[in-house]
Amino acid sequence: MSKVIDGKKISGEIKEELKGKIKKLKEEGRVPGLAVVLVGDNPASATYVKMKDKTATELGIHSVKKNVEADITQDELLDIIDNLNNDDKIDGILVQLPLPDHIDEHEIIEAVHPGKDVDGFHPVNTGRLFSGQQDKLRFDPCTPLGIIELIERSGYDIEGKDAVVLGRSNIVGKPVAHLLIEKNATITICHSRTRNLPEKAASADILVAAVGRPEFVTGDMVKEGACVIDVGINRVDGELVGDVDYEAASQKAGAITPVPGGVGPMTIAMLMSNTVKAREHHGV
Ligand code: GUN
Repeated sequence: MSKVIDGKKISGEIKEELKGKIKKLKEEGRVPGLAVVLVGDNPASATYVKMKDKTATELGIHSVKKNVEADITQDELLDIIDNLNNDDKIDGILVQLPLPDHIDEHEIIEAVHPGKDVDGFHPVNTGRLFSGQQDKLRFDPCTPLGIIELIERSGYDIEGKDAVVLGRSNIVGKPVAHLLIEKNATITICHSRTRNLPEKAASADILVAAVGRPEFVTGDMVKEGACVIDVGINRVDGELVGDVDYEAASQKAGAITPVPGGVGPMTIAMLMSNTVKAREHHGV
């Protein structure tokens, strides 16, 4: 049986570390501020936004939640972002995705000041990740950052390993591949048009599943002793199911994340970490 990578425990440790930093910032009169913008009332998005707001408040971060109607215009949404960009109490801005079809998502992402882009989605930040720039202020996307923390804090050494990423999204697949390259892994990104995907997955020392299909990864797609990271959050008959068939995969994996309680809690912890980082760099 494999070792279970406990995202709840690891995210708890990260939040404890952040509490210390936030306390120090507060003493200096520099309370970190996070604004989360929710457009419309998508139930999953509303739940995520509520959890982000709650965690921020618990850690002592000044949290502002802006819930706007689904029929907001592009210009009205851009105005809200502009105000947050110019608000000194706000260090981090997050616009919850997906956005309604009439909104140009790329324009919204580019409107957020790169120094307040705690989601790490702005082209300045993705560009710095792509080009491996570590000497400038750079925000990396929260789920990929959380994945790296999970792997490293569970004692697994990434250097030189073969990593296979299933999924090529801008939020998870592409950025996690770049972070793994920075850690000196060798990367294969697989997607819906990949040939012989099961064989490629089965060659991975580190397998990251981010395809959004319940139990897509079967036991024979997992190498003996592999580190398996399940990013999937699929709702099946009212229950949360990952992208990995946990029962089968855990017979072969050396270490594996559960769903829930694996990657999920890490995304929020890393958002808090990025917000503290934004405050630390704000105005210095
Ligand atoms: N929707 C799903 N994941 C994310 C995320 O990490 N950030 C934002 N803004 N929206 C999301």
